[in-house]
Formats: sequence, C-alpha cells, structure tokens
Amino acid sequence: MTELQKPVPLKGRSLLKENDFTKEEFEALIDYAITLKSYKHKGIAHRFLEGKNIALLFEKTSTRTRAAFTVASIDLGAHPEFLGKNDIQLGKKESVEDTAKVLGRMFDGIEFRGFSQEVVESLAEHSGVPVWNGLTDTWHPTQMLADYMTVKENFGHLEGINLTYIGDGRNNMAHSLMVAGAMLGVNVRICTPQSLFPNQTFVDMARQRGEKDGGSVMVTDNIEEAVKDAHVIYTDVWVSMGEESEFETRVNLLKDYQVNKQLMRQTGREDTIFLHCLPAFHDTQTLYGKEIEEKYGIGEMEVTDEVFRSPQSKVFDQAENRMHTIKSVIASTLT
Ligand code: CP
Ligand code: NVA
Repeated sequence: MTELQKPVPLKGRSLLKENDFTKEEFEALIDYAITLKSYKHKGIAHRFLEGKNIALLFEKTSTRTRAAFTVASIDLGAHPEFLGKNDIQLGKKESVEDTAKVLGRMFDGIEFRGFSQEVVESLAEHSGVPVWNGLTDTWHPTQMLADYMTVKENFGHLEGINLTYIGDGRNNMAHSLMVAGAMLGVNVRICTPQSLFPNQTFVDMARQRGEKDGGSVMVTDNIEEAVKDAHVIYTDVWVSMGEESEFETRVNLLKDYQVNKQLMRQTGREDTIFLHCLPAFHDTQTLYGKEIEEKYGIGEMEVTDEVFRSPQSKVFDQAENRMHTIKSVIASTLT
C-alpha cells in the first residue's frame, strides 16, 4: 500500500485572503495539491476527513467553486451540504454572527461565496471552525492556489515568472493575483485603462509582500509594455457578478484590452500560456454573449475564441486544479 503524504499542518486556520498566509504555507498548499492530483489520477484513496461535515454557503452563483468543494469533500470522505442564499435565514431573518454560531456547532468547516469580505471574516470570527473564502467582491484566494499551481505545472517554478493580467483592474481577480503573485516571487503586471487602475491600498499591500517575498507589481495602461516577455497572459470577465449594469461602460473601456492572437504574439515568447478563471465570454453561446453582440456588435469580449481554444490556453487544466487545490486547503485546515 502507498504511504500517503500527510496534509500541510494548518489545522484550525481559515483562508479568508492571501495576505493571511506566509509564502511557505501558500507554496506548501500548492505542492500538496499536486500530490493530491496524482493520487486522484492514480485512483489512490485519500480519505483524511471521514465523518466530517462541510457547509457550502453561496450568495452568488458558481460552477467550479461549488463543484470543486463538493467533489473534494466527498473524495476526502467528508459530507458537503449546499446552503444556497434562498434556502437559509442568513441576512434575512438571522445575523451573520448567529448563523456562524449555529453552523459552527454542526459543521467542521464552512465555505462562503458572496459579496462582502466582512461577512466571510465575521463567519470565521464567530463560528469557531475554519472558513474558506470561495470569492467575495474583494478577494478570490482559492482561485489563486489553482492558478499558480497551473503556472508551476507549466514552467516548473514560480519565482521570476512574468504574469500579465489584462482587463478590469479593480476586481477580486486583480487584487488576488497581485498579492498572491508578489508573495510567490512572480512579477505581476496589471494592464488596464487608467480609470480602472486598482485601488492604491491593494497595490501597496502587494508591493509590501513583494519586497518581503521576492515578487513585484507593475500597474500600467500600456499593453506593449505590460505583455513583453510575459510567461502568462491572464484575463477575467469585464463585468463581475453584481455589476451587470456596467456592461456598456466596460465594453467601451476595455475593448482595446481584449486578449487576441496578436496580443499573444506581442509577448515575444514561444511558451506563453493563456489563463482565465472562467466563466469566459469568448463566443455568443451564452445569454449575455448574445445580448452584447446584439447591442454592441462584438461577439467576443475579454478573449477571442481563437485564443481560448488554442494549445496555449490552459483554462481547463486550471479549472480542474480548483478541485485539487481546494482539497489541499480543506484537508490541511481540518486535520
Ligand atoms: N472561477 C470560478 O470561481 O468559477 P465559478 O464562478 O464557476 O465558481
Ligand atoms: N471577477 C469575477 C470572477 C469570477 C470567478 C466575478 O467576481 O464575477
């Protein structure tokens, strides 16, 4: 029988935002996810969480995060319970504090996806069990583990990687990529129009991590400067969940920042990969995609279908890695 590698010793810790973790802890979670991926692919059981119960709270919709937490829990021998925003009292009839205290008496860990970072922080403060942030308006930390794991799988290392994020510079993905990247020794470039430059607080936070841990952060509206020598070109939707009234403004602001074949060539590297947290607007096969085409005459938004489907695109490896990294986090914080 194979001797299983034990989870990272992080018992009782929550994952609310990247900055709460050390570089070594974050790297260890990524490396452990790589190990868990090999167990899964080889069919080696790894039921570290037999008898545990995990609550999955979703105020916003999700495919990957919900599926990843569900499958990861079941693979680990735990029971996941989905609690959607229309099914529970949270916010309507019961405060976050009271909900946290109740769930903490029954569940061993809680995942939360929603709008406010304060809610996920409050759940952690009052539940007494590990809480994992499955995305808020401010941060998307579980996504970072999968993204940088995918970078590591492709390049073998993270230190010295140039990662260019092009798109909305003020959303959760821009914040998280900057801070997590700076912490992991990556040179992160945020390329966005000046009116979408990230709030300086987040840039300062990332730069401080970079000074300590070896990465760097550049913010620019100049595409040529941003993409030169990039190992990774990353983009996200132009309009995040909860901002649906912003489509027209964002299409006008960001249409020149679309990831297309010409932009991919501009890196000057043969080995550049394309990443996207997904879901992506790369064609008109969605309700929003169709509406945008009818209104503004563009059938592709943040990335062209050509790049999305190209061999350089690693978006489905990245999506699969959400499951292995989330498994790494829940196993490590619950055992
Ligand atoms: N990337 C991501 O979080 O996807 P979902 O919104 O489908 O969970
Ligand atoms: N910025 C996007 C990320 C989705 C995974 C959003 O918040 O909608």
